[in-house]
Amino acid sequence: MSTQTVLPIDILIKKRDGLELSSAEIQQFVRAVVLNGEAKLGTAPQEIAAAEKITDAQIAAFLMAAFERGFTREELAHLTNAMRYSGETFHAAPLKSFTVDKHSTGGVGDKSSLLIAPTLAAAGLQGTPSISVPMISGRSLGHTGGTLDKLETIPGFDTQLSLARMTEVLLECHAAMVGQTPRLVPADRILYAMRDHTGTVESPYLITASIMSKKLAEDLNALVLDVKVGSGAFMPSYEQSKFLAELMVSTGELAGARTVAVLTTMDEPLGRFSGNWVEVWECVEILKGKRHALSADLIELSNVLSGWMLYLAGKAATPEAGALLADELMTSGAAYEAWLKLVAAHGGDVTVFAEPASFHKPKATRVLRAEQRGYLAGMDCKEVGWAVQRLGAGRAKPGDPVSAHAGIESHAKLGTFLEEGDPIFTLFAEEEALLEAPFAMLKATVTLSNEAPTVQPLIREIVRQ
Ligand code: URA
Repeated sequence: MSTQTVLPIDILIKKRDGLELSSAEIQQFVRAVVLNGEAKLGTAPQEIAAAEKITDAQIAAFLMAAFERGFTREELAHLTNAMRYSGETFHAAPLKSFTVDKHSTGGVGDKSSLLIAPTLAAAGLQGTPSISVPMISGRSLGHTGGTLDKLETIPGFDTQLSLARMTEVLLECHAAMVGQTPRLVPADRILYAMRDHTGTVESPYLITASIMSKKLAEDLNALVLDVKVGSGAFMPSYEQSKFLAELMVSTGELAGARTVAVLTTMDEPLGRFSGNWVEVWECVEILKGKRHALSADLIELSNVLSGWMLYLAGKAATPEAGALLADELMTSGAAYEAWLKLVAAHGGDVTVFAEPASFHKPKATRVLRAEQRGYLAGMDCKEVGWAVQRLGAGRAKPGDPVSAHAGIESHAKLGTFLEEGDPIFTLFAEEEALLEAPFAMLKATVTLSNEAPTVQPLIREIVRQ
């Protein structure tokens, strides 16, 4: 038997030629990627074996080969696993609890995490079986909003907890909402940055490994995925969104976490507001029992996802019963109590929830109105998301601050009949000049029609094993 060392070049040539990689080869590649990152920071060991020395060019070549060739389900499970354990991971054992989380592939106005975390925490606080939600969230990405940016508009709210502090918050509140630590899944941070520069972001395989490695590093018993379809989704077609959902479900199940994906429509902003503080405000009103008609889709989505989480955790006999329980927890005020406790445990100032409409008031506003009567027939939801980002809710480059004030209010959902002059969107920004380009973008993307449009249902399909 040959004892010849397998080098990174051998691994990438194998992928280039469409051959299946072994678990050992994938682990070796991921380890080399992490060492390469550490070498740049000056924290790598002095001596690195030839098998673990890789160049940026080789990493980029591997990513392009992976983009073109894809992975078998086993290879994908090995890659996800190697990335998951590439740095520190969360350990759920001290919680003595069923751990469950949700993840969305990204949308516009999608603030369901802000309702789901306190709802599940409220269920978790109510005795056996114990449930905990160790939620590690992200920042705004492309045209989509990010949970961390929204939470950080609450004065004092600290999303950058250590894993030890996260455990304490979970023991007290049954939920914690934090950002990725620098040492959690470092392989993903390095590979993601490289994908961004090499045109390899949009691979369903690489997206699966990226998302699932981070979610599985939370030490989950179960995961519910909200995979968006429609004009505001990252994936361009229903089939591609479904394929991504199937890959993520099979990867989660192979790693031992019960995993279910819900395919949901993202053809218009979810709920009433899109932005940062305005989304917190919308959720606080709902948790306090005030249900605005424009928030109905957000509440439905949150209940469906919470319902699946409660079902998988053994708190409900069916996902439908779980959705009813979630709704009860929100209407009874139990979820609001859990929210206040959670925010306080993160150092957040809960007094701002007394009058959320008068906090972070925007300095400039403008209303986009219907120029003729007709049905609100369509919009490119991605363009709406970019308009929200351009108002100041997003960042031009990593590390830039985001505006708490920026965002939009939706006044009508697709299929609503509008009279001439009726409001469609109100735009908010910190200064008048920031309204110009987003106003033009929204105006150009909205269509009105004499014919009632076909509006897709919110919940499209459940993908599970
Ligand atoms: N979100 C992630 O975390 N990774 C991807 O690859 C895409 C979206």
